[in-house]
Amino acid sequence: METMEKLDSKSLMALEDKYGAHNYHPLPVVLAKGEGVHVWDVEGKKYYDFLSAYSAVNQGHCHPKIVGAMMEQAQTLTLTSRAFYNDALGVYEQYASEFFGFDKMLPMNTGAEAVETAIKLCRKWAYEVKGINENQAKIIVCENNFHGRTTTIISFSNDPVANKNFGPYTGGFIRIPYNDLDALEQALKQENVAGFLVEPIQGEAGVYVPSEGYLSSAAQMCKDNNVLFIADEVQTGIARTGEILACDHENVKPDVLILGKALSGGVYPVSAVLANDPIMMVIKPGQHGSTFGGNPIAAKVAIAALEVVKEERLAENAQKLGELFRAKMNEIIAKTDLVNAVRGKGLLNAILINDTEDSSTAWDICVAMKENGLLAKPTHGNIIRFAPPLVMTEEQLLDCVGIIEKTLLEFKK
Ligand SMILES: Cc1ncc(COP(=O)(O)O)c(C=O)c1O
Repeated sequence: METMEKLDSKSLMALEDKYGAHNYHPLPVVLAKGEGVHVWDVEGKKYYDFLSAYSAVNQGHCHPKIVGAMMEQAQTLTLTSRAFYNDALGVYEQYASEFFGFDKMLPMNTGAEAVETAIKLCRKWAYEVKGINENQAKIIVCENNFHGRTTTIISFSNDPVANKNFGPYTGGFIRIPYNDLDALEQALKQENVAGFLVEPIQGEAGVYVPSEGYLSSAAQMCKDNNVLFIADEVQTGIARTGEILACDHENVKPDVLILGKALSGGVYPVSAVLANDPIMMVIKPGQHGSTFGGNPIAAKVAIAALEVVKEERLAENAQKLGELFRAKMNEIIAKTDLVNAVRGKGLLNAILINDTEDSSTAWDICVAMKENGLLAKPTHGNIIRFAPPLVMTEEQLLDCVGIIEKTLLEFKK
């Protein structure tokens, strides 16, 4: 292939269409550069990024400190495998464990792998510590969950897009409605329950924020029943919702914490599971791992990414701008019947479009926002998620609100 010629957006989209599997349906924009809260397409048009790679780029695109850490390590030592020690991993494990307040962490690469890790950890703990009979352990999960795309994870999804024709499914899961403590209480009465796996806010499902007190009550009920409370904070974690963890809003300390995405600021695939010794120590050499998990680049990148979150007070900024954003959206909602509501926490928000679930209205609005210089994408149904990088300034946020308002008020179905 001729690699020297610069391809335009149309040809690049055609290439993906012809040579790539069709497992995504992107908005028609081809990005070539990112910096802070902005991205640029191949023709040079500048946009606000209001998706942040599904909350991976909380620290902003190409953050110089994180990229710098990666560049330096990339020229020194990239990968040794866990067959040997390396001089970055232990330092990172200590940093991350202390940062989140756990005895230990287990490093992986993607969010789904970290969820799988938590499931394995929970099951092994159930057999070896709790004393459940082999192969009988059950994990409670929620309706409309999204925890990734592996075969086990889609086995307990109720989204037909995720699981149809991918069976046979992995057993051992009990699904209950989200934000329903009675349902949780009933499920906890079943025999052999080992864990409750939950998203503190359901991101992919459409930014469903549970009622206040749900997480703290659920965690307490798990504790009372000797069941592990497993928080999937892959999307909600690391300052996105206005606290370092979404669980922090209710002072909940999960037994098992799952992180991914912004653990690297979107620079590199880095995920992790954190737990205290009585849980983490059930895993012995050879029982779990990954070639790339805990590699030196990942270790250096993750430390830098977490430092940025603290140094730049991203949680505080998300909290402050989130409140402003929802207030401004409510002002817009009062002017149009195109939007029913806004909901969210910190800078993880969504607007609910007033149309049927299967209509293309939310998609068409996103295409129109793209034309006006702001990138967002519908989640399920007619819901548009808004999750900009947390390094945004108030002035930039108000500029974005202006773009959203203009688009919504001018929009014709
Ligand atoms: C809550 C949650 N868990 C897990 C995942 C899976 O992460 P990954 O795509 O890195 O496998 C996601 C991805 O969106 C997520 O939102």
